[in-house]
Amino acid sequence: MRGLKAMLWEASVLDPYEGIRFHGLSIPECQKLLPGAPGGSAITAESMLWLLLTGKVPTEAESRQLARELAEKGELPVYATQLIDSLPATLHPMTQLSIGVAALNHDSVFQAAYERGMQKSEYWAYTLEDSLNLIARLPALAARIYRNVYKPGTALPDINKDLDLVGNYTNLLGYGANHDLTEYLRLYISIHGDHEGGNASAHTAHLVNSTLSDPYISYSAALCALAGPLHGLANQEVLRWQLEMQKELGDNITTDQIKDYLWKTLKSGRVVPGYGHGVLRKSDPRFIALQEFCDTRPDLLASPIIQMVKKTYEVAPGVLMEHGKTKNPYPNVDATSGCVLYHYGLTEFKYYTVIFGVSRALGALTQLVWARALGLPLERPKCKNLPSTHAHGSLTRLHPAISMDVLEKLIETQS
Ligand SMILES: CC(C)(COP(=O)(O)OP(=O)(O)OC[C@H]1O[C@@H](n2cnc3c(N)ncnc32)[C@H](O)[C@@H]1OP(=O)(O)O)[C@@H](O)C(=O)NCCC(=O)NCCS
Repeated sequence: MRGLKAMLWEASVLDPYEGIRFHGLSIPECQKLLPGAPGGSAITAESMLWLLLTGKVPTEAESRQLARELAEKGELPVYATQLIDSLPATLHPMTQLSIGVAALNHDSVFQAAYERGMQKSEYWAYTLEDSLNLIARLPALAARIYRNVYKPGTALPDINKDLDLVGNYTNLLGYGANHDLTEYLRLYISIHGDHEGGNASAHTAHLVNSTLSDPYISYSAALCALAGPLHGLANQEVLRWQLEMQKELGDNITTDQIKDYLWKTLKSGRVVPGYGHGVLRKSDPRFIALQEFCDTRPDLLASPIIQMVKKTYEVAPGVLMEHGKTKNPYPNVDATSGCVLYHYGLTEFKYYTVIFGVSRALGALTQLVWARALGLPLERPKCKNLPSTHAHGSLTRLHPAISMDVLEKLIETQS
């Protein structure tokens, strides 16, 4: 369905060359217009959430009022903390997040109202309430997973009602004293919050919610899509790949060495993580915004891992063009996002997609509110199947080891 417009997405639209616009505003425009937190300049999650929901730029007072409201709803219920604490620390943090979000539907007002027999015209209001409650609780849930897996036995602080969502999240993670990291996460979480609806996670939330599943279980399903290496897991893959490169080549790597390493990756049949995109056909403006953030901080500029990201950017597009497969040889947001976290000491890269999951909730959940307000229908695309001779041909091409005999038996069994 590439290029086929088949989905209404109220909050944002992605242009292959210009990148994302949120209600018509580009990322640099959002950076100019959307309020930051007191003492900071990066966009807060609340400002972005307000824009996505209403199409309007909030005032500083409105953004703070929303922050306070979310902070007041931010504590996790006991049943959720008990559930998360009972999960094995070896379970991937994304699986834990998906389980935790699904379990919060215990308190879904949408589900309760549906059981009471609410009108279709009321769906959006209960979807809004569930969505805001879920967004409010995500920092406590995501931070609890981090603490259980990586810092067991350390006490989690309470939610601070005077802090914004990301201020609280960083604090709960145990990095509240690092102002730069908090600012970085504000920027990352707000500009990464929505990327129109066709991406696998937002689309999953949209599809599942179209069955009138409540926002919690809809977003839990979205997180399972986000956990795939071609989507959200790419940020952890980038860091793993960059660290492997550093280990093999040592410090002071030259661009020629990086070129050879890129070819080695491609020839081994792997993708270069952090490069390419389903829609974008130029460098991702989110990548550029994060690079600009790095350029304003001397410690980041001097960081070996950030320098490697920059050097890779100098040569990777050329190598990928010469390789000739990918339609977009330029970096996406993940080419740098995890490396900045690593520099700031948040080195547990299996956790990075969880931060993405906290961010993407902003866009995916606000769109559920719009979908229910507009009465969008159950999504159910029509399918077509191949005549069996074509199916034989394409399957044997895909998997030459499958013999025709086996295939025929398979098809017979199916029919
Ligand atoms: C993002 C991504 C999944 C988009 O996939 P897509 O829309 O199918 O991309 P394309 O249409 O350009 O793919 C065409 C071919 O180029 C390959 N390709 C795309 N990006 C590539 C990359 N970064 N490195 C190597 N090959 C790549 C694809 O695997 C595909 O090969 P195939 O025909 O053998 O299957 C893909 O670019 C990718 O795997 N990138 C690396 C992972 C990543 O950074 N993900 C985060 C996305 S925000």
